[in-house]
Amino acid sequence: MRLPTERLLLSPYTPEDYPALRTLHSDPSVTAYISWPPDTPEQTWALLERRCAQGEPPVEGGTAMTLAVRLPSGQLIGEAQLRRRAPEPATGAIGYVIAPEHAGLGYATEIAGALLRFGFESLCLERIIGECDPANSASRRVLDKLRMRRVDHVRGHEQDVVYAIDAERYETSNPTRR
Ligand SMILES: CC(C)(COP(=O)(O)OP(=O)(O)OC[C@H]1O[C@@H](n2cnc3c(N)ncnc32)[C@H](O)[C@@H]1OP(=O)(O)O)[C@@H](O)C(=O)NCCC(=O)NCCS
Repeated sequence: MRLPTERLLLSPYTPEDYPALRTLHSDPSVTAYISWPPDTPEQTWALLERRCAQGEPPVEGGTAMTLAVRLPSGQLIGEAQLRRRAPEPATGAIGYVIAPEHAGLGYATEIAGALLRFGFESLCLERIIGECDPANSASRRVLDKLRMRRVDHVRGHEQDVVYAIDAERYETSNPTRR
């Protein structure tokens, strides 16, 4: 699966991504807010192996698609995830990471917008959510910019704030829709 955005390319991980993935997850400002930070080199290899197997669109039943976020040069600068969360209504969840040296350029908003577009237009999802730590102001701002709205409770995610957008609202108001 390859998803081009205006400035970036989302594409499957390969074993060659090890050094970039290790660097990404060695930064405390990245690992502070994600639930999968690998610690040792072995854990990074295990994560990369899982990521390499997640390059296809998520199917019903809870699978995840996780793609590397690349500059046109091929350099990995982050990752983007779209998971299936619930069948009724058909719900997906997005996740994103951008390396600190590339932050503040609108990249997370751009890739999250591409995930919304793919989820609604290609997977026909009815709802997409984004969850984050309440203290993660930059991530909350990304969800805001996508016109996602704060919702109250999602089972099992009491610690996180949850934002959501339904297909209908996406159709009428999402700024990233083409
Ligand atoms: C959160 C993260 C994805 C943002 O990536 P990014 O490419 O910088 O995001 P964007 O540039 O698209 O948008 C960031 C917005 O947050 C704002 N922002 C940045 N830091 C902020 C802060 N501390 N408080 C409030 N807003 C902040 C930016 O100004 C920008 O808003 P603006 O366009 O209105 O100016 C990135 O910092 C990251 O990967 N962090 C570590 C991992 C993580 O938290 N992932 C998300 C897990 S839910």
